Amino acid sequence: MDLINKIEAQINEADCPFYVLDMAQVKANYNRFYSALTSHYKQAKIAYSYKTNYMPHLCETYHKLGAWAEVVSMMEYQIALKNGVNPTEILYNGPAKKFREIEMALRNQSVVHIDHLKEWEWIKTFAVNNPEVLLRLALRLNFKLSDQNASRFGLSLENGDLNTVANEISAIKNATVVGLHCHFTTKDRSVKSYRERVKKLIVVAKNLKISNLEYVDVGGGFFSEMPEMLENQFSADIPTLEEYGTALSEEMKMGFPNGGPLLVVEPGAALSANTMQFYCKIWEIKNLHHAPVAICTGSKYNIKPTLHNLQMPYKVVHLNEGQSFYKIAVAGYTCKEDDVLIYEYSGPLAEGDYLVFQNIGAYSLVLKPPFIEADFPVFAVEEENITLVKRRQTFEDVLSTYL
Ligand SMILES: Cc1ncc(COP(=O)(O)O)c(C=O)c1O
Repeated sequence: MDLINKIEAQINEADCPFYVLDMAQVKANYNRFYSALTSHYKQAKIAYSYKTNYMPHLCETYHKLGAWAEVVSMMEYQIALKNGVNPTEILYNGPAKKFREIEMALRNQSVVHIDHLKEWEWIKTFAVNNPEVLLRLALRLNFKLSDQNASRFGLSLENGDLNTVANEISAIKNATVVGLHCHFTTKDRSVKSYRERVKKLIVVAKNLKISNLEYVDVGGGFFSEMPEMLENQFSADIPTLEEYGTALSEEMKMGFPNGGPLLVVEPGAALSANTMQFYCKIWEIKNLHHAPVAICTGSKYNIKPTLHNLQMPYKVVHLNEGQSFYKIAVAGYTCKEDDVLIYEYSGPLAEGDYLVFQNIGAYSLVLKPPFIEADFPVFAVEEENITLVKRRQTFEDVLSTYL
């Protein structure tokens, strides 16, 4: 309540929803994951996945703690530079990078992760035509995982593309493979699967005998820590950051007992999902012919713009005396019938009560469309300090790209 009052005092419109970024959680996620990753094998790096949530305040905090940036577009690359990231600490992934963008990254000494042969053909020509530029490259591997049938990303290990590119790079004086990479998002995101991934990278690193290998990178895709209400909706067990990190660290220690390349991970959701909450209010409760329906000042586009069917975990802050309801829907401000934030709410509820949706830090802000409403402000909370880190979007912001 105290937090709501303090934030309400900072916003002009009393009914404006807002997001809260919990800075203690941001730091705790990073520190927990990093200490697990270094528990057995001491050389590890976290490359934070910008696509998940590129809010500068969040990214900068991860960078201050030691994180690199993992980006998949020039837009994200530019944001990382603006956040002060040293270009050598930017890993440039992505399945459809533009050539002029790859050139900029290569000239900056960022690591370009090669995804496919066309990309490599272009990089090869660039290397030959620019012998003065030392190219730092990584190979993204595509292989069959036991818990996933197929991925469309990376150079195939099975059909020989990976070896072809690795051999060609070794014949080019000004190009070096500094990293081996893979990334998969599997249904269960199991610890076992991460062991399999890192083992595969270690075997390939040894087979290819890459002399200057600086890192093996198992990508992201880890589950985030989540409230029970969300956890209960998954059939799989949700591993902890400690379980993932320790397993990867153990495998690296076994693979490189006397030390070797860095272990790199590219977490997005695991670092950011549980760092943000979305606060909105019950606007009205209608008694319709079939059932009562509560309408709130938020939308499902604020809490899950990927439009999955999971019920995002929430709490109600009861501010007013209300009726008690049984299994009613709480719907959003848009004109879409299916804009439902809570499928079945039972309990007391009144106009003016706050709904606090949890775990909305990943793939939310970056995917929120300016559909019907511009987006809402974000406040970072750190100990006693509440700082506005993203202002309310205005209609001018939304119109600014239309000519
Ligand atoms: C190459 C790469 N790395 C990291 C991530 C981050 O994934 P997650 O948010 O599931 O950790 C993604 C997400 O698509 C990705 O494509």
